Amino acid sequence: MNKDIIEEIRRLKSEKNAIVLAHCYQNVEIDEVADFVGDSLYLSRKAAETDADIIVFAGVYFMAQTAKILSPDKKVLLPTIESGCRMADMISLNQLRDFKSKYKNMPTVCYVNSTAEVKSECDICCTSSNAVEVVKSLNAKEILFVPDTYLGKYVESQLDGVKINTYPGFCPTHLQIRPEDIINARKKYPKAILLAHPECHNEVVKLADVVGSTAKIMRYASESNEKTFIIATEKGVVDRLKRDYPDKEFILIKENIICPNMKFNTLADILNSLKNEEYEITVDDEISKKAYNCIRKMLEVN
Ligand code: 13P
Ligand code: SF4
Repeated sequence: MNKDIIEEIRRLKSEKNAIVLAHCYQNVEIDEVADFVGDSLYLSRKAAETDADIIVFAGVYFMAQTAKILSPDKKVLLPTIESGCRMADMISLNQLRDFKSKYKNMPTVCYVNSTAEVKSECDICCTSSNAVEVVKSLNAKEILFVPDTYLGKYVESQLDGVKINTYPGFCPTHLQIRPEDIINARKKYPKAILLAHPECHNEVVKLADVVGSTAKIMRYASESNEKTFIIATEKGVVDRLKRDYPDKEFILIKENIICPNMKFNTLADILNSLKNEEYEITVDDEISKKAYNCIRKMLEVN
């Protein structure tokens, strides 16, 4: 059954000059039909570079929206329209304006996990891969950071003399990981290397050996000579590491560290998306132009 779906997706991709971009938190079988699999930064670069006519974004809403802003002439499709990011939904344009009004003239950095409207009123965007470099590039002593308070505070801990005022947003999936989980995992696997995503609580991050984005975690685990790794991020990362490096052991920090919205997409949804060209993402022109500047500045930093 899956085999038939996979073949049909591949046929439609070539017929329609379409590509499929898949985030590493997607159900692992989506990789079978993906042209590129990676983290937010990698996928936004691929969306900006492609000469395909259609981009099917197997990810969450803000990722497809970012792809549309970067490639406004292409048709961008999100296979399941309900797949929003719960962190991105924590800040609206009004909430951003309210937050900014409490501070005077400070550069505002937004995590890519945010809506186009929020991006349109921020100075520069970042992902978890480049957040430290992006903030450094501003040469500012004090900034605002939205919406992820934990990523913002992590960046502050990595830079000398920069005060980062953070909006109180968070990722409900990563916040399920508690410091006790790290302590227990270390007792159980004393030789393992512990890798954590910076969306985790700052107390969790402090206990990790390596802190990094999805891409950094995957790269570190693949290049390391160590054999056992505890992974404190979404389960999709562990699924892919297990598949790609069967001679190493990867332990998910605890059961069910899953982003439910990332798991909505099935192969059948990708097929439906390509066949019926739904659900098409559109962004208001004015908003899109301003949000583009915010994203473009980030892409210039790296
Ligand atoms: P990455 O930037 O590491 O892909 O993370 C995106 C995300 O939504 C993490 O929860
Ligand atoms: Fe958003 Fe968290 Fe899901 Fe990432 S894991 S898409 S931040 S809700």
